[in-house]
Amino acid sequence: METIISPSILAADFNILGQQIQEVEKSGAKYLHIDVMDGVFVPSISFGMPVIASIRKNTKLFFDVHLMIVEPIRYVEEFAKIGADMITFHLEAAKGHVEETIDKIHSLGCKAGMSVKPATDVSEVIPYMEKLDMILIMTVEPGFGGQKYIESSTEKIRRMRRLLTERGLATDIQVDGGITADNVSVVKEAGANVIVAGSAVFKGNIVENVKKLL
Ligand code: DX5
Ligand code: ZN
Repeated sequence: METIISPSILAADFNILGQQIQEVEKSGAKYLHIDVMDGVFVPSISFGMPVIASIRKNTKLFFDVHLMIVEPIRYVEEFAKIGADMITFHLEAAKGHVEETIDKIHSLGCKAGMSVKPATDVSEVIPYMEKLDMILIMTVEPGFGGQKYIESSTEKIRRMRRLLTERGLATDIQVDGGITADNVSVVKEAGANVIVAGSAVFKGNIVENVKKLL
């Protein structure tokens, strides 16, 4: 499977965000990972609609929006409107209306991704697998950039890939959290093909850093 790098702007310098996104475009990364946090589902608050709408005017990169918010269905329409290409929500945050959330994202013309926290078993994704365009296996506890990769994630990625393959599905598996040039080959080998990286891309030379992850 083709490896796609999705730099997370959570680690960007917001003073020069536009410039750094231009660097990402030059680097060969195809996605831009956009972390939205509500201070409820996760302890911190990141940024929201005005930021996304304004960077949309500046780039053609694929907007990979990672919603760390409770009851994501309330906002998917707005995220689609301001230019999200893929909307990934957390299974734990959408209990009771998971299918409805996936269907709504698709009806808005976006790709639908589902994310699971480190403590959530991958078997919980099985009922929705056929409908999803991407499954995000969190490799750190969501909420903050710059954390260390949780080693047990490797086995989780491997299991998720096996579950998909057994059903004849070639769905994208995304990993997010603590990915560096040193461990990227481990997650790829386990079956991940969409690689999120914040600190490992934005600290230092963006173009060089992305090359090391490809
Ligand atoms: C964490 C976010 C990540 C974060 C990754 O909750 O979902 O996307 O930006 O940052 P790094 O790559 O620095 O761990
Ligand atoms: Zn993320």
